[in-house]
Amino acid sequence: MTATTRLRSLHIGNINPHVKKAKYAVRGELAVRSEQYRAQLRKGDSGNLPFDTIVAANIGNPQQLDQQPITFFRQVASILENPALLKNEDALIKYMGYKKDVVERAKWLLKEVKSVGAYSQSHGAPGIKESIAKFIEQRDGYPSDPANIYLSNGASGGVNTLLHIICHSHETGVLVPIPQYPLYTATLSVLNARCVPYFLEEHKAWGTNLEEIKSALATAREEGTDVRAIVVINPGNPTGASLSEEDIQEVLKFAAEEKLVVMADEVYQTNVFMGKFVSFKKGLRDLQKSDANKDGKYDHIELASLHSISKGMVGECGHRGGYFELIGFDQEVQDQIYKFISIQLCPPVIGQCFVEMMVNPPKEGDESYELYKKEYDGIFNGLRERAYALWEAFKEMEGVECQDPQGAMYLFPTIKLSQKAIAAAEKEDRQPDDFYSHRLLDATGVCVVPGSGFGQKEGTLHFRTTFLAPGTDWVGRITKFHKEFMDEFRD
Ligand SMILES: Cc1ncc(COP(=O)(O)O)c(C=O)c1O
Repeated sequence: MTATTRLRSLHIGNINPHVKKAKYAVRGELAVRSEQYRAQLRKGDSGNLPFDTIVAANIGNPQQLDQQPITFFRQVASILENPALLKNEDALIKYMGYKKDVVERAKWLLKEVKSVGAYSQSHGAPGIKESIAKFIEQRDGYPSDPANIYLSNGASGGVNTLLHIICHSHETGVLVPIPQYPLYTATLSVLNARCVPYFLEEHKAWGTNLEEIKSALATAREEGTDVRAIVVINPGNPTGASLSEEDIQEVLKFAAEEKLVVMADEVYQTNVFMGKFVSFKKGLRDLQKSDANKDGKYDHIELASLHSISKGMVGECGHRGGYFELIGFDQEVQDQIYKFISIQLCPPVIGQCFVEMMVNPPKEGDESYELYKKEYDGIFNGLRERAYALWEAFKEMEGVECQDPQGAMYLFPTIKLSQKAIAAAEKEDRQPDDFYSHRLLDATGVCVVPGSGFGQKEGTLHFRTTFLAPGTDWVGRITKFHKEFMDEFRD
């Protein structure tokens, strides 16, 4: 204890131990080091750094990596933030390039929320919930009830709410895919509950393997874990995998048999480059309608599906908007969910408005449609091109294998490192993939996340990189570094 520590109530030894235990590699040591380099470069002090820019490929933060905001969204938001602009609608239209539908949408949203500076209802503004229900209905072909929709502070807020409700004691367990986005493991740690890992199958394009899930569940139950829920991230992070309807229904059937809540994290639903996104809600309704459900055994599956404005072509993660839809939940449980979210008052109202625009963008025939479509398609095609360019580069790299770029914003290649490299990592007291990722950052300014940050099968090594950064120069930096690294540590 230092002298000043003695004068304070709090020190590292007496704060919540569960927070200390939680791990969140996406913004961990490597990210901190990359920010130090960035600050150094900003000061014009490149010193002896062998690069002049930092590429934050560690996090799915689209606009930080130059993805441009969609004009319609921002024009509407500008009026929401400054309704005084409506005093001169003509000027907006004549001189600022705003279209009539922008002005109309802003007026409608203002009517719904009154002001983005006011609290809304805890589960979100009613008109916005109705727009979300319509969107879900059009997407899946099945009705959605606005009463079961809860706006949230990004999808993270929704995950936090749901895990708080699900976790009854430190024996509660939740099945989490590995590798996974560490929000789940970190939140379970904070709640002092148990993560029950199930491994995804790398060689089957990172799909789910029911036998693996069953065995993870059986082991956890033998150890006294009260497994309550299963998380599925589709399309996957960090894997990018996109599940078929058959896989989805398998998980749902299993959840019904084992009485597990299904948490479907679908924040990447528009980032799909191969095949078509199928939602868990559609999978569930199709299953419930099918012959397999003659006896009604799938009628009571509890599904929570989450979506967000952070990803896709919207990329408005700084505005913190999202929602979750609950299906099959007990009303008394929903009442507690309502109480829980009301303790936080409400999710950001501007974020809620972005959710409304995401689920109800300009339609064909609307004045803003042409530009919206051009921008949307431009972002989508750019992401797909970069995903493929990076994937092609990985295919050429020695000791690197990478599954097809199916979706999300990431590639998660596996790397085979030499014994010499592994020994060098050990010397620095690092996992080999962490060692590799540190070396990559130091040599190139490209910040990735080692596979150990997401979990991986023992004996395998990976790293995750987004393909959001513009241009291809940084891909060249990775290829060059990799070759030099492999040469330096050749056995
Ligand atoms: C799978 C997954 N779920 C949830 C989130 C959190 O998103 P949000 O910004 O909506 O909280 C992320 C963010 O990267 C993610 O990858």
